Amino acid sequence: MYRKGMKKILVTGATGQIGSELTLELRNKYGRENVVAAGHKRKPDEKLLSSGPFIYLDATKKEELEKVVEEYNVDTIYHLAAVLSAAGEENPQHAWKINMETLYNILEVAREKSLTRVFWPSSIAVFGPEAPRVKTPQNAVLIPRTIYGVTKVAGELLCNYYFLRYGVDVRSVRYPGIISSETLPGGGTTDYAVEIFYEAIRRKRYTCFLRADTVLPMMYMPDCINAALTLMEADPARIRCRTSYNVAAISFSPAELVAEIKKYIPDFICEYKPDFRQKIADSWPMSIDDSAAREDWGWNPKYDLASMTKDMIEKLTKRFAKGHF
Ligand code: SER
Repeated sequence: MYRKGMKKILVTGATGQIGSELTLELRNKYGRENVVAAGHKRKPDEKLLSSGPFIYLDATKKEELEKVVEEYNVDTIYHLAAVLSAAGEENPQHAWKINMETLYNILEVAREKSLTRVFWPSSIAVFGPEAPRVKTPQNAVLIPRTIYGVTKVAGELLCNYYFLRYGVDVRSVRYPGIISSETLPGGGTTDYAVEIFYEAIRRKRYTCFLRADTVLPMMYMPDCINAALTLMEADPARIRCRTSYNVAAISFSPAELVAEIKKYIPDFICEYKPDFRQKIADSWPMSIDDSAAREDWGWNPKYDLASMTKDMIEKLTKRFAKGHF
């Protein structure tokens, strides 16, 4: 229940793929008025606007961030705003600026104002070809080949530093590709696994930008949200890793996903035209060892390829039938 003067949660990147759904879950859990959604460029949709406070925020500007934290009495931040892997390769300087400056500002504000907790997602993009690609261990060598991966490694080290040096309670998971039916991802290498559903249902055809046999780790949105909420609620004594936890759910190739979709749409045709994103995918893990997250704070994903595909098709079919594209 909301009480006047109660501390608030701020979500940056709230109009993005994860933010748009995570914000609604946080509002359900902690009260609508207690969760401030912050966007930057993308316009918020109706659900986000009508369910609680929304503001525009450029988190590269520390004064703007400080003002919001003071004005709303924020004590917890979910910092989701970022430039993803493929978009990052198109403008590496911009990706560094957005990803690093915003995280630095968030951690500084958390230090200065003694915020209670910060969540910041890292990614499987922290790994490069030198790491084992199957069941990639938590502590595998981190030599990414993308600027996005470089910002995630640097970010993990910065979070760990702020925890050790200043006691900032910052928590993180390395997300794989996220699949969801509400908001499209933008600029990632794993985006095909979302786009393919939209095109399969609407046109029964899709041209995939990765090769048919490219296996990547993926996760369905309910598990993605559950990872963030469970980690953020965990007793601090159980969080033994302050860089970022490996979390795994499903691993599949485009060909395997197509076969699963064809169970519902038998005449679906997928073509393959790999582009620059193939090289990025080839440098990433195929599957992830997430035993540390399971042991430390009880990570346990629910969705596999079959149940995720069924749910995606049902949700999108319903939405398109109502004329919402
Ligand atoms: N989904 C992200 C990307 O493809 C991975 O963190 O960039």
